[in-house]
Amino acid sequence: MITTVNGQDVSINVDLDTPLLWFLREELKLTGTKFGCGIARCGVCTILVDDLAVRSCSIPVRDAIGKRVTTIEGLGSESNLHPVQEAWIKHRVPQCGYCQSGQICSAVALLKAKPQPSTNEIHQAMAGNLCRCGTYPRIQNALEDLAGRGKT
Ligand code: FES
Ligand code: FES
Repeated sequence: MITTVNGQDVSINVDLDTPLLWFLREELKLTGTKFGCGIARCGVCTILVDDLAVRSCSIPVRDAIGKRVTTIEGLGSESNLHPVQEAWIKHRVPQCGYCQSGQICSAVALLKAKPQPSTNEIHQAMAGNLCRCGTYPRIQNALEDLAGRGKT
């Protein structure tokens, strides 16, 4: 069985009930995706599956068969950052950084679905991603900027 992870075909060689998060971290060594609550509440494990934001701690590998999985490692590179990553730097969003790969994946999913979300739509889309460092206002500002409302 094959899935596509960050543009590469990958064979699934684990029990199909394994949480996708552990397949990514333990088998593929893609450790940018973090573990927090393990029960789909905190959002730190958020990745993209076919451009939708998904809690990778709470879906089995079987749900990724034949789909496009994208993790933080697949969004951009140091020399070619994703626009969301650029906005995160511009607005100095990350603090400790632990929640940020999930935050960025949720933001990318939002903008794929709705390139110019309203302030309320940003708030609604990001509300499920918790941040112990309280970066919420900076995340909102970065997304307002990406939506064309250029706050600084
Ligand atoms: S670790 Fe997946 S939502 Fe918290
Ligand atoms: S930046 Fe520290 S938990 Fe969000």
